[in-house]
Amino acid sequence: MIFAAILAGGIGSRMGGTDTPKQFLDLGNKPVVIHTIEKFVINSKIDKIIVLTPQNFVNHTVHLINEFIGENEDIVVIEGGETRNDTLMNSISYIDENFGIDDDSIIITHDSVRPFVTHRIIEDNIDAARRYGACDTVIPATDTIVESINAKTIESIPVRDYYYQGQTPQSFNVRKLFNLINSLTPEESNILTDACKIFTLKDEDVYLVEGEVTNIKITYPYDLKLANTILEDGYD
Ligand code: CTP
Repeated sequence: MIFAAILAGGIGSRMGGTDTPKQFLDLGNKPVVIHTIEKFVINSKIDKIIVLTPQNFVNHTVHLINEFIGENEDIVVIEGGETRNDTLMNSISYIDENFGIDDDSIIITHDSVRPFVTHRIIEDNIDAARRYGACDTVIPATDTIVESINAKTIESIPVRDYYYQGQTPQSFNVRKLFNLINSLTPEESNILTDACKIFTLKDEDVYLVEGEVTNIKITYPYDLKLANTILEDGYD
């Protein structure tokens, strides 16, 4: 099976100014998270879309989906976790409890606040996760990367050609991800901020899928303004 996990469990503290997490704010005429879910609904290869939100937004999200997308038994809304990784873990537990973990299933994990993911990016994630077991969506770094340990002086300036900016989706073979998560020591779990890091930590290859500059993450109020411009101008 092919699962999509839409990670919408955050509170959007850097957005400020509102009690509504940024994924529920309007972009054009519908909430950000609805734009994102729609990108996965139109891909007929995806069997189940798991949307993970803060506990007090689960019902709200179900209502939004009914209003904007219509009743759809391939979409389920469940509670996310304390951290982004906990939210990801909840999606894996949901798969384990409801479908079991098999050798062939893959999971496409995506930030709910990246509403401009394209059909091509999702297709490339499906291909790469099937073929290699793990992939990350990236774009080449355009700015010079400067490393500083003390936040005062430059430690090094790495060769930019070797650096990329990570986006999402990140996609995995479900069994591989499940086994790797279960093999982590408590110390390792603490330092994991990113699912692909679990693979690299365990010396497993993670393949690169080409992202798009328009596949932005809405983090700050400025990003929502930018998102509205991208929406008006078109991005596919
Ligand atoms: N996310 C999640 N569960 C969490 C934290 C984050 O599913 N416990 C999701 C967010 O909803 C978002 C994505 O991960 O779609 C990217 O995270 P980020 O932009 O950092 O979102 P927030 O944590 O909500 O933002 P902030 O750090 O500003 O509070």
